[in-house]
Amino acid sequence: MTKDVFQLTGPDGTTSELPVRKGTIGPDVVEISKLYREQGVFTYDPGYGATGSCESDITYIDGEKGILMYRGYPVEQLAAKSSFIEVSYLLLNGELPTASELEEFDSTIRRHTMLNEGMLNFFKGFRYDAHPMAMLSAVVGSMSAYYHNAMDASNPEHRSIFSHRILAKLPTIAAAAYKLNIGQPFMYPRNDLNYSENLLQMLFSVPAEPYEIDPVAAEALDLLFILHADHEQNCSTSTVRMAGSSGANPYSAIAAGISALWGPAHGGANEAVLNMLTEIGDAKNISKYVDKAKDKNDPFRLMGFGHRVYKNFDPRATIIREMCHKVLAQLGRQDTPMFDLALQLEEVALKDEYFVEKNLYPNVDFYSGIIYRALGIPTSMFTVMFAIGRCVGWTAHWREMITDPNGRISRPRQLYTGPAARDYVAIDKR
Ligand code: CMC
Repeated sequence: MTKDVFQLTGPDGTTSELPVRKGTIGPDVVEISKLYREQGVFTYDPGYGATGSCESDITYIDGEKGILMYRGYPVEQLAAKSSFIEVSYLLLNGELPTASELEEFDSTIRRHTMLNEGMLNFFKGFRYDAHPMAMLSAVVGSMSAYYHNAMDASNPEHRSIFSHRILAKLPTIAAAAYKLNIGQPFMYPRNDLNYSENLLQMLFSVPAEPYEIDPVAAEALDLLFILHADHEQNCSTSTVRMAGSSGANPYSAIAAGISALWGPAHGGANEAVLNMLTEIGDAKNISKYVDKAKDKNDPFRLMGFGHRVYKNFDPRATIIREMCHKVLAQLGRQDTPMFDLALQLEEVALKDEYFVEKNLYPNVDFYSGIIYRALGIPTSMFTVMFAIGRCVGWTAHWREMITDPNGRISRPRQLYTGPAARDYVAIDKR
């Protein structure tokens, strides 16, 4: 390999010079777009562990060093000093806002929180026990029916209004799904409250009595949203980009992202962690479950452990563990045994040879569920909370993808392992 070119020699001795592209930081990338033309081969990378799918200037992760930055700002600094609304502006626009830009953005988001009344009718069609992630994905998908003609992806103003609408309305949709589950009346948004306060109000207030928002709960929620806001080309974000690359309505692309997030290997892990801790139940059972996680013949995995990119520690988990202490001290003393059990499980796993050898550490979801639970948010809503935080990342990536001058429809190839050509056999001869 020379400096900016990667030389590859095929079996017949033909050499291809593949350009090496350099990012601002991080590993170089070998561009393989002419490989098939020159060598007649595709690359094979199931799960895309070694594939850069696009160029992006939104988020940077160094999995070895445990670094996560949005637009160059370390997530630790944003978590300590910023707010979710400011981080959302940063992710969408590339720079931190001035005071007046922030005020304008904040007020725009507050003014888009109401749903079209007709959209509330969708909830009447769901069973009372429908999973809120299924309702979230369905109702967000239906937004494409409300905003189809009003959404021309080539129009910057339309892209901007889409971003504001989806960011502002997702908490309202989430809260409506929750209220359906518990049989309480839907609570309208209140634009005098900030993003996290408003969500708490829509989730927990009832028309019959006043509701007091706990500032620690609002602070914890805001922090969790900041930490979940973006994570480069993860499964759900790649899904949004892929669905959007065909030119589909962006609300449908976000609905696809919500579906991808739901799985237990992705955003569904926070729900799975709580179920796992409940099943373990007591510190005396920890070693039994750690053994199960190590057993190749047992499908059980330690939920909230391991990450495709982080191989040292997940910086988000470190920040959330701290917030857990604060939240439990003030709000959820009854959940302290669950937190203690999680701390003990973490300690055992981190010392275990299997987990050390495979670089398996607690990820963002290991502790987030404990905070949600202490805030009174039920387990089935945990992944919905993740979706609310991640929505701005999906939106920023959709905007980047749709305005990329080199953008093409996402269309990978494959290694075909099915039957070779064969002749049709008449039904009476089979
Ligand atoms: N418990 C036990 N073994 C594990 C675990 C775990 N949680 N995670 C990975 N391993 C083992 C795995 O069996 C494999 O072993 P071997 O090399 O012997 O086959 C090795 O570690 C590498 O794992 P992998 O599945 O090839 O790694 P991956 O990058 O494909 O998967 C992961 C990453 C996050 C899906 C996986 O670690 C996992 O399933 N973790 C539990 C679910 C979870 O917490 N997900 C949340 C991820 S963070 C939030 C988000 O992104 O949504």
